[in-house]
Amino acid sequence: MDQPDNRRIAVTPTGAALGADVAGIDLAQPLDDAAFRAVEAAWHQHLVLRFRGQRLDDPGLLAFGRRFGELDSAPVHATRDADHDPYPEITVMSNIKVDGKPIGNLGHYEAEWHTDMSYNERCPIGSLLYSLEVPAEGGDTGFCNMYLALETLPAELKRAIVGKSCKHDASRNSAGELRRGFKEATDPRETPGAVHPIIRTHPDTRRNALFLGRRRDAYVMGLPLDESEDLLNRLWAHAAKHEFAWYQKWKVGDLIMWDNRCTMHRRDAFDPNARRLMHRTQIKGDKPFFDPASVAA
Ligand code: OGA
Ligand code: MN
Repeated sequence: MDQPDNRRIAVTPTGAALGADVAGIDLAQPLDDAAFRAVEAAWHQHLVLRFRGQRLDDPGLLAFGRRFGELDSAPVHATRDADHDPYPEITVMSNIKVDGKPIGNLGHYEAEWHTDMSYNERCPIGSLLYSLEVPAEGGDTGFCNMYLALETLPAELKRAIVGKSCKHDASRNSAGELRRGFKEATDPRETPGAVHPIIRTHPDTRRNALFLGRRRDAYVMGLPLDESEDLLNRLWAHAAKHEFAWYQKWKVGDLIMWDNRCTMHRRDAFDPNARRLMHRTQIKGDKPFFDPASVAA
């Protein structure tokens, strides 16, 4: 039988603030319920999972993603019109150009800390990123643990965010490029994008996390602009501390899945002449909420 033997699934934590390797699973094979439950439990515990040495085509990536729920369509890109792609739920992340045109999103630039698509009212619960080509160096992806960022927040900052919401800018991607069809924002208070609670309850684990989305053009609703800027600067300085992070050095065939409800991620720049190609899909989610009865408020 070709069925994977779930008893061979091994979860090895990175030893950093989040992340674990999952071995003993061939993601190109259908995942039975016991294997799925093991993966989901590991995901809730470690927030980011890495599966190395996979061989996935787009239908395989989509099928694995669908085990976790309905998939979301790809975000609006800065440089390319993805309307006619064969798989609307696949986001191509690449710096590669064909006939002078980028085949994907984000180029070779640094991508700043962010949560995927949190500028939407309903934001993806998680994303799955699969590597097809990687540069020899650079282009590492960092992840950070936003449960921990909230738990360790100085009391005075925690008090300042209780009951507050934040605007998540929709106009730019995490490399700072304007998305197609969006105008330059001049005042964060006017920026287009969804408003979400800054302390967010994870619907499955019921734990609370700091929910910042992205820094640029963010705005804490109801505050004078200078107070909003100051509060956001202090929250970001705390959340971006190295001790909450873990970095992935990519190999071809790595699949990483992260939980957008309790992590952020960023990417290092890399040599523009090197090739990097990843396919991503994202799992549809609900509107972020805060439950006052949940833990670690
Ligand atoms: C993403 C993303 C970073 C990377 O796919 O959402 O931010 O390392 N990718 O390509
Ligand atoms: Mn992203």
